[in-house]
This record gives sequence, structure tokens and C-alpha cells, in this order.
Amino acid sequence: MGGLNMKYEFPKDFWWGAATSGPQSEGRFHKAHRNVFDYWYDIEPEAFWNRVGPNVASNFYNDYRQDIALMKEIGLNSVRTSIQWTRLIRDFETGTEDRDAVQFYRDVLDEFLRQGIRPVINLHHFDLPIELYEKYGGWESKKVVELFVLFAQKCFDLFGDRVKDWVTFNEPMVVVEGEYLYQFHYPNLVDGKKACQVLYNLNLASAKAIEAFHASDCAKQGGRIGIVLNLTPAYPRSDSEADRKAAEFAEEFKNNSFLYPAIKGIFPEKLVSVLEQDGVLWESTPEELEVIRSNTVDFLGVNYYHPFRAKARETAFDDGGSWLPEKYFEEYEMPGARMNPYRRWEIYPKAIYDIAVNVRDNYGNLPWYIAENGMGVEGEEKFRDEEGVIRDTYRIEFLEEHLAWLHKGITEGSNCFGFHMWTPIDCWSWKNAYKNRYGFIAVDLATQKKTIKQSGHWMKKVSRENGF
Ligand code: BG6
Repeated sequence: MGGLNMKYEFPKDFWWGAATSGPQSEGRFHKAHRNVFDYWYDIEPEAFWNRVGPNVASNFYNDYRQDIALMKEIGLNSVRTSIQWTRLIRDFETGTEDRDAVQFYRDVLDEFLRQGIRPVINLHHFDLPIELYEKYGGWESKKVVELFVLFAQKCFDLFGDRVKDWVTFNEPMVVVEGEYLYQFHYPNLVDGKKACQVLYNLNLASAKAIEAFHASDCAKQGGRIGIVLNLTPAYPRSDSEADRKAAEFAEEFKNNSFLYPAIKGIFPEKLVSVLEQDGVLWESTPEELEVIRSNTVDFLGVNYYHPFRAKARETAFDDGGSWLPEKYFEEYEMPGARMNPYRRWEIYPKAIYDIAVNVRDNYGNLPWYIAENGMGVEGEEKFRDEEGVIRDTYRIEFLEEHLAWLHKGITEGSNCFGFHMWTPIDCWSWKNAYKNRYGFIAVDLATQKKTIKQSGHWMKKVSRENGF
């Protein structure tokens, strides 16, 4: 039932929720293995904002009961987090599980269910085990694809009775970009050829995990599986042919290289021919391509933060270095763009509508949801009032603007079933650590005390009224 003066009412059973991940919230307590970020922090803590690493994070490992109660308190009906490969699995080669970890994740899931919150479980959130990078080259290797599927199968078997909504990967494109192109994830390489192989292998790993899922009891009992992609719709600087072509390539590389295989089961033809001509196309087999073709997602999660503005290259691309997608475009800094000054990301709410229309018209109107959207702000403590509440009105405005455009897309027939904000409780954000805070709930890092922000109270009302 909508409120009396409500302007935007959302579909029945809409997911009002938020997303986090295991490595960013749990802390490293009792973990047998290290992921690439744990390792990077151990060898180079100064690479992280204020030298804050993932060791404690937001202490979800110890605080999960209280944290889930807070999530309930702010009205979330669904929450995404992830199972850490480096926590669940003792022996990566055999897929043998760690008993304590199984108990921990079962307890967490039971707590979500007890509180009436639908758990959405992701299998990979940038957290490749470092051993598998050192031994096999990580996602460069198809052996790692097989080991990931073993881990995924284990998760379906162990938790399929509690979890109905699964996600294979969060933002696989960020693995490609961070690890192999732009140096913000360990091992910080710049290698276009490897980047393309990794892009392919991640698509293959997702399809193989989907294949395993669809053969599992979990699927037979009504479970479903999807992927979460960060979409950065590419807009050309101008209508000129050169700018439009630049934006088209950016769109193909950044978005369609995962959207196509995930939903249509194929890679975009134009992209494949450019990569082939440039000598950076991945190695594939007909059998693998068939697996990708026949194992597409049941639903799509979209992380939307900012658009991508493209222009035709104004300088010659340096052919002496590694291949980069920038061979075909340059990023355009649009004068007057509205920016989030803390993150230097453009704020452009209309793109969420463009995404809704794109999924409706070009991807068979597949069921989809916003799996992340939100605003990272530095120094939020200064907005705390005398009652102890952080008055994050800017976040509420940001969300309302994005939701209004999403609502328009839904009204025009886009099959969107939910909206998750990044993130329920301020969490550790990789290199940025706790610089920019995103949560509905604040964390005091020194005491781990958690307090609901004004946006959390806003969320409760929106969720209760199913709109605003
Ligand atoms: C998303 C990721 O891209 O952005 C999250 O899925 C991440 O893991 C979030 O924490 C915010 O990132 P940042 O870099 O602004 O702290």
C-alpha cells in the first residue's frame, strides 16, 4: 500500500535492499587463506588509504547478529553479500570445505532468514585466492575456471536449501580493468592481451557455474542464478561520426563484452573482429563457446554509479606499449558535469533509465535489478547532529533522483524487480578502504559502534510504503 502523497509507487514485492561482500565486511578472522587483496595489504599496506586493510573490516564475522538486526531495523527486505572462496574452501584443488566456515555461513544465512531478509549470495567479489594467482596465473588460466566451478558447486550443495538467489560474479569487468589494464587491483599489470583472455575466462567461469547450478537440486527447487555487471553507459561527446564510433567501441568493450555472453550467450561480433585484427583475441574452443551459448543467466544485476563519456582520440595511440581499449576512444571530461567530489564520479541519474530501456529493448526484457547504486562521501562525521544521527540528506536526494528515473523505466515496461544500495553498513572498500562512506548505517572504526544514518530512516519508510 502506498502512502497518501506518494509520487513513485514501485511494483509489488519490489526488493528494497543493499549490497555488501564477504571480504569487505567480515574481517579476516579465522580465515585459512588469503585473497589477492589480503596478500597485497600484507606486503604493501601503504597502498591503502590511511593504511587501513581488510583485517577487521566492519567486523561482520563477530557482529553479524547485531548487523542483520540493524538491516532489519531500516526495512531492508533483501541483502546481497558474498561467500569468500578463501574462507569456505580448505583445499582449492579438491574443493574440501572448512567446517567452521560452513557453520559461520549457515548461521549468517539462518539469521537473515529469521529476520525475514532474503539473502542474495554472490560467489566472487574480486577475491581470488592468492595461491591460485601464484600457481596458475589466476583468471588467466582455465584451470582456475575449473576450480571456481568446484567452489560454486560446493556452495550450491551446502547452502542451496537456504539461498534461492545466486550471483556468479560481481563486476567481472573490474577484475579485467583493475588487475590487467589500469593498475588498481593486485597484481597491477598493464597487459591488454592477458586482459582479453581474463575477460573471456571470467565469462566462461560464469557460464560453467550456471551450468552446474542448473543441474543442481537448488535450481530444481526454484532457485535462480544471475550475474552482477557494472554498467557505465557510454555517451559520445558530440553527434559527429568519430565521437559516436568512439562511444560505440567503449560500449562494446566496457559493457557488452559481459552483457552479450551473459544474456545472449555470444560475444559481440564487432568487438571480436577488432580484437582479432589487433592480435589480442582470447583463446577459446568450440566446446567452451557452446557452454557459454547454452548457459545464460536467469536474471541480471546492474551496478550503476556513473556514465562514461567518450570522444574520438585527439592524440595518437602509443602502439609501442600494451594494447589498450583506449586505442579506439579517449575519456571525455564534459565541462559542467555534475560530480561527486569525493569519488570524482559524475552524477547522472538519467542513465539508470537508459539502462532500463536498453535491457527492455535489446536484452529480451530479462528480469533485472539495480544491484548497487550509491554515493561515497568523505568525512560524514561532520554531519552528525546532537542526537548522534548523521544527516546525509545528499544521499537521500541522490537516491530519490535515481529512483525516479528507474520508476519511469519500470512504468514504460522495463522488467526491474528491485533496488539495492551500496551498502547497508559502511564497509572496507579495497584501496579506498574507509575513505568514502556509502552505508545506510555508519561505523566508528575505533569502537566498531554502528549507528543508523538519516538515509537509513528514510529507507525504512520507502520500503514500508513501497515508494516515496
Ligand atoms: C563497487 C564495488 O564497484 O563500488 C564495491 O562492487 C565497492 O566492492 C564500491 O566497494 C565502491 O567503491 P569505491 O572505490 O568508491 O570505494
